[in-house]
Amino acid sequence: MPRVIANAEQRSINLPEMIDALRTARPDPRDEDSFARFAPELQALGNNRSFLSEIICAELAEDCRNQQAVSAYGPQVIALYQGDGVMVRANCWPQARHSLVRNNRPESFFYDVPHDHNFSFLTLGYAGPGYLSDHFEYDHGSVAGAAGESVTLTPAARTRLEPGCTHLYRAHIDVHSQQPPEAFSVSLNIIEASATTPLRDQYVFDLANGRIAGLANPVATASLLPLLARLDGAEGRDLLNRFAERHPSDRIRYAAVTALADVAGDADTRAGVFERALANGSLLVRTRAGEDLSKLAAMVSMNSTSDRIVASNRS
Ligand SMILES: [Fe+2]
Repeated sequence: MPRVIANAEQRSINLPEMIDALRTARPDPRDEDSFARFAPELQALGNNRSFLSEIICAELAEDCRNQQAVSAYGPQVIALYQGDGVMVRANCWPQARHSLVRNNRPESFFYDVPHDHNFSFLTLGYAGPGYLSDHFEYDHGSVAGAAGESVTLTPAARTRLEPGCTHLYRAHIDVHSQQPPEAFSVSLNIIEASATTPLRDQYVFDLANGRIAGLANPVATASLLPLLARLDGAEGRDLLNRFAERHPSDRIRYAAVTALADVAGDADTRAGVFERALANGSLLVRTRAGEDLSKLAAMVSMNSTSDRIVASNRS
């Protein structure tokens, strides 16, 4: 479960002071101890009981133009700062009967949607009783990341993010299923926001069946690749081949493989695309390409092409 960080902080600081501290300390979200050492600054900001209302008043006076310019999260999130590889934000957690939940569905707030995170983050209960979490852990390195794939989720404790309570969630390790708080609540977060964060997968889990239910952060880039494959141009074909081979996102690698396979002229060429993918450095790409080869073999069985595909898939 997330690391629980004791809060004995007596100071109260404002947001610019915490940002100054961020720029000085430069905590590394990928280093758990480095990130945890910064928790007192977040806790000191949490002791400031007026800063957030002042920011909201300023935003409302400007029709929230600043929020619309910097935040892609929607009304649940108030962006407070982005830079130095992190984002500072406030998150709203309405209770189950709140009109925000009724009008936008509980899933919009990730209630009852078990998920991991593709970023590490520090979170502090700031206002209200706090949401509940049932915690689990899993071994990210042991899964390819396909929807429906079996995954072992080890149960941990149930917690409430009470005011002042501070948790450090570890990317790709901690899974939680959130329940709405009993009354409107607010948390303050410092989250990892590097250039590669959006390329790393975040999963939604099916707890009842111990499976990956799907991706929580589909990558928009992937949807452009089938289009690119169908258009003329050597540059586009070269880019697809490079993406299939070594794009940092497994998801985009596999999207490039399937885009190339979809426009292959015949079964032999199509099989060749998947066969090359069997040697890919990504477990997701290798697993899915093997499945695709099996499906292709079933489609063209009883001919020499099928025989070659099956032999390759078994090797
Ligand atoms: Fe979460």
